[in-house]
Amino acid sequence: MKATMTKNRWLTKALTNQSSFKSYLEPLAQLVRPKWQANGFNAVVIENRVESEQVFSLIIRPQRKWPGFIAGQHLDLQVEIAGVRYLRTFSLSCAPKYQQQTGLIELTIRQQEQGKVTPFLANNIAAGDAINISAPRGQFTLPKNNQPLLFIAGGSGVTPFRSFIQELSLSEPQRDVHLIYYNQATKPLFALEWPLLMNTMPHLKVTMIDTAQKGLINEQQLLDHCKDLEKRVAYLCGPHGLITTSREILLQLGVAENNIHHELFGPKPIENFTIDNDAEVVFASSQTTVNTEKDHPQTLLELAEAAELNPTSGCRMGVCHQCKCRKKQGVVYNTLTEQFSDTGEEDIQLCVSVAAGDVTLDL
Ligand SMILES: Cc1cc2nc3c(=O)[nH]c(=O)nc-3n(C[C@H](O)[C@H](O)[C@H](O)COP(=O)(O)OP(=O)(O)OC[C@H]3O[C@@H](n4cnc5c(N)ncnc54)[C@H](O)[C@@H]3O)c2cc1C
Ligand code: FES
Repeated sequence: MKATMTKNRWLTKALTNQSSFKSYLEPLAQLVRPKWQANGFNAVVIENRVESEQVFSLIIRPQRKWPGFIAGQHLDLQVEIAGVRYLRTFSLSCAPKYQQQTGLIELTIRQQEQGKVTPFLANNIAAGDAINISAPRGQFTLPKNNQPLLFIAGGSGVTPFRSFIQELSLSEPQRDVHLIYYNQATKPLFALEWPLLMNTMPHLKVTMIDTAQKGLINEQQLLDHCKDLEKRVAYLCGPHGLITTSREILLQLGVAENNIHHELFGPKPIENFTIDNDAEVVFASSQTTVNTEKDHPQTLLELAEAAELNPTSGCRMGVCHQCKCRKKQGVVYNTLTEQFSDTGEEDIQLCVSVAAGDVTLDL
């Protein structure tokens, strides 16, 4: 069976230079239905709801065969901007039960100041528009037991927690949950919803911390707000700094490592990494060569984009593997694992790889 599938894929690739006949047929199908896409699932936007100055929620109706999701999972959303397709990752911010009852899902999205996609979604996507989404995925999901939970959210990192808490309010309203929500805004997200959820969940506690007034997360602050954190299973979501610091504090305070789960929303900064000389990066298939600057390390994805090569990318932080690319030779540094690669041929993720010397890529 497997051998037949491989043979079919090989034949398709040989005849069409596409991984599937659906992809090959896409341009023809788009003559009739311009938004139709071969991969992923088609979906229609029902509403683009403003949540705050920088944040909005897309209420979406996926096509019927879109598989259901588990609270805490995310998906890739694909849009075309000026003829170029972009893929970006967002958590589902609603409960699975909401989707089962209404057929709708919600994504709650912060506009990134320099972002290509999030400002476009905020300003150009409206009710009735067609978009393309992937199946849900991700392991940031709740344990199948009734242990007390500690959720630590930073900014828009609160989205999977809204999904968790909405779902628990319907399926396990007695669950002991403490959400500590760090944000810079004077108006935290879903401010009107938390009190309603607390009314239905007697053991739900929500602590809002305005970082402009109270500062960033620290040990004393966590202890002051949550006296019994060592008995809780902790879930962390938000930017890299919040996750690293809260992990360190929780470990120090006696929370077991396997009771700490996290989801990263922001890229890990390139730090503690220097090379002696500028390096040469050859994008072999595009016959393009660029030079890196030793004082200004950039990921290979950023270099390829600056050279206008249009590489495929999604999350830009090592999660989705959309940016996978064949390295023909040279050593790269992985900012996520903090490891150097071998010199030989292998697949790498462009978004978390920095040239550690001269590198040749099959791009
Ligand atoms: C698993 C997962 C789930 C996510 N869920 C959500 C969600 O529910 N809601 C949401 O708003 N975002 C979420 N994100 C983050 C979201 O994917 C990015 O913010 C988004 O892709 C930015 O796209 P853009 O095209 O506007 O910005 P880009 O053009 O990709 O980036 C522009 C600039 O902003 C920086 N940047 C981009 N995203 C972030 C970020 N999150 N934090 C700090 N700097 C950033 C980039 O480094 C770059 O300098 C999630 C990310 C992951 C990996
Ligand atoms: S863009 Fe998602 S792993 Fe690189």
